Amino acid sequence: MKTVAHDKAGMNRQARVGPDLIKQIDEVRSRVLDCRRLGLMTALVPTMGALHAGHGALIERARREADVVFVTIFVNPIQFDRPDDYENYTLNLQTDLEFCAARGVDFVFAPEVKEMYPSPPDTFVEVPRVSEHLCGKFRPGHFRGVATVVAKLLNIVPADVAYFGEKDAQQLAVIERMVADLNIPIAIVPVPTVREADGLALSSRNQRLSPDERRVAPLLYRALEAAREKIAGGCRDATEVKEAGLELLRTESQIRVEYFEVADAQEMQPVEHIAGPVRIAAAVWLGSTRLIDNVLA
Ligand code: PAJ
Repeated sequence: MKTVAHDKAGMNRQARVGPDLIKQIDEVRSRVLDCRRLGLMTALVPTMGALHAGHGALIERARREADVVFVTIFVNPIQFDRPDDYENYTLNLQTDLEFCAARGVDFVFAPEVKEMYPSPPDTFVEVPRVSEHLCGKFRPGHFRGVATVVAKLLNIVPADVAYFGEKDAQQLAVIERMVADLNIPIAIVPVPTVREADGLALSSRNQRLSPDERRVAPLLYRALEAAREKIAGGCRDATEVKEAGLELLRTESQIRVEYFEVADAQEMQPVEHIAGPVRIAAAVWLGSTRLIDNVLA
């Protein structure tokens, strides 16, 4: 299944079963630059590991569209606003490598924290307007941590194109804005959200739900859909649209709503009157697990 392209890169892929695991910044950067010098199209898929079919959709798209696929696995400490969330973030590199191997990934860059942050960083990337509402309002410093690590990853892995999921729509908007404002020479490709059959968006945090919480969790997507239907039915008043979703969420006492917002799709600013394309986005708590989801309307 490996292509002539890989042979051109001097990589004899025929006998290899999985991706090359790289832990050093210098090494991964020179691999990307070698590939680009040979005229190969390179793709980057940044992740925090614990890979599931949502990540799989990004990787598969990258595999279809590029010659050489780089996946990064790095649980970025500076984007976690709660220490327990960081500590509970379980990584199984071997499982993730097998996941990547099955999807034809060429290189996995999985650095240690001290490789990415040899000393506490003193330079940060902030996208304050896009980060202000929705998740940004409840997770102080989160998007600054995301923008900073993604800027670093785009420098470390200077690929032609990078893939991000619409599941994290505000994160995607932050990254698109950062890349535009800082003239970072990479194309950002959004990939639609992958869901379970009952509508629940795939997330590594779903594993933390109890069976009862898991039963209730799909209501989040149903509430977003109810809000979308309200807009499809002609309603342009954001308060009424939100109410259509909130009404549904109130039927389950286990669900605690953090936010339920209607925002413009580009800048993530909440709107009162719906005049163009909007994201309906929400975050809810089920016990100690926080779930987010969104739909375009
Ligand atoms: P992580 O949560 O591992 O997600 C990596 C990528 O997979 C993100 O672009 C995310 O939007 C996408 N993704 C996750 N679940 C998805 C789903 N159900 N459908 C489609 N895409 C999905 O997001 C991060 O890591 C980090 O913040 C990162 C960008 C790597 C920076 O540290």
